[in-house]
Amino acid sequence: MEALLINGGKRLEGEVRISGAKNAALPILAATLLADEPVRLRNIPHLNDVTTTIELLGRLGVSVTIDEKMSVEVDSTTITQFEAPYDLVKTMRASILVLGPLLARHGRADVSLPGGCAIGSRPVNLHVEGLRAMGAEVEIDNGYIRARSEQLKGARLVLETVTVTGTENLVMAATLAEGQTVIENAAREPEVVDLIDCLNQMGARIAGAGTDTLVIEGVERLHGTDYRVLPDRIEAGTYLVAGAITGGIVRVKDVRPEHLESILAKLREAGATVNIGDDWVEVDMRDRALKAVGLRTAPYPAFPTDMQAQFSALNAVAEGTGTITETIFENRFMHVLEMQRMGADFQLEVHTAISQGVKKLTGAPVMATDLRASASLVLAGLVAEGETRVQRIYHIDRGYERIEEKLRLIGADIRRINDSQ
Ligand code: EPU
Repeated sequence: MEALLINGGKRLEGEVRISGAKNAALPILAATLLADEPVRLRNIPHLNDVTTTIELLGRLGVSVTIDEKMSVEVDSTTITQFEAPYDLVKTMRASILVLGPLLARHGRADVSLPGGCAIGSRPVNLHVEGLRAMGAEVEIDNGYIRARSEQLKGARLVLETVTVTGTENLVMAATLAEGQTVIENAAREPEVVDLIDCLNQMGARIAGAGTDTLVIEGVERLHGTDYRVLPDRIEAGTYLVAGAITGGIVRVKDVRPEHLESILAKLREAGATVNIGDDWVEVDMRDRALKAVGLRTAPYPAFPTDMQAQFSALNAVAEGTGTITETIFENRFMHVLEMQRMGADFQLEVHTAISQGVKKLTGAPVMATDLRASASLVLAGLVAEGETRVQRIYHIDRGYERIEEKLRLIGADIRRINDSQ
């Protein structure tokens, strides 16, 4: 198994190019199942979750070609299977995103139930209830969601909780439903908007993107298109925290600064100077004192749960008391327990991690059970004294493209090793 070996204490300085957004690429790859012509996608990040999605499409019989610039062409007209099997769904929950498109376009979908995961129980009941309201017959059988429908019908759906992939699944299903679908309490994340922009470019009629009410007029078919996926705001945020936590100056480029607002507000609160251009953001923390922040995760445009672990690392070494409250997932503080092994001082209450910043962390072997937690341990390693070995980095490779190369370019002492332990 591979690990990342970090020698902490280097101040990071420089520029990082941000890749396409994982959480936009995954639903958009699933959306290609709705089209009756090839779809070309650009700025697809080179990540394990993308590879898994492409493998899933391949198992369905869909033809996918990829060039060296990760421009992907998907032709779903060759489809022969309608099942997302357990062996793929268990490695990537986002496989659930094929449910809506398969059902809407082919009248059937068998998708393994994802089950619990390292950050919480993560049910998919709202996906299922929404499809039922659109007239589908959905059964849970032998661990599979088995959905059938001759023709989905438009419906008014009021989502009990804001759900990102739930909104995405239902929007995709509604594009080919008969009549109008209204989704209330829809997710407003930029990745949902990106999916909707792509669907509209394929001929869908969806209004209200970026608001909590989506109105979808069903159409008979979706056609091919050429679409560029938006930049990854979480990857960008992670490198900005890397700059801040090491007292350096880091610029992320090829980003959409307006999507980073809640993250930048917290970086300012932490004492950083933030400079913003058209498609770049720079955090300058040189000769400034890092101060602990208080934050609470919530759906967009509030502070993202996917940046919570990275700010836990920041709070661990910042001056003063920090409080981080997680409201989206019930079990997303594994990184805090690992950081304690590096000398961090956290008190964990049910949904809140209260920190007393320490002057220094010390390197240690650490591992985490999910993607963002692993990234936060890399950040902690960047400021820790001595060597930190981050194990089980397949989690990081699910969501960060060549993290060690990008960090090395801005001055980090980090390398990937084969780790026999
Ligand atoms: N929920 C339900 N029922 C449902 C669906 C969701 O109760 O049917 C609850 C969940 O248990 C959770 C809340 O709703 O408490 C929000 O979950 P959501 O459905 O929005 O999460 P998701 O769609 O499964 C996506 C991202 C996650 C990100 C969350 C929250 C993708 C592929 N994944 O997950 O990304 O944390 O939204 O923003 O878009 C990551 O990239 O590391 C990651 C975990």
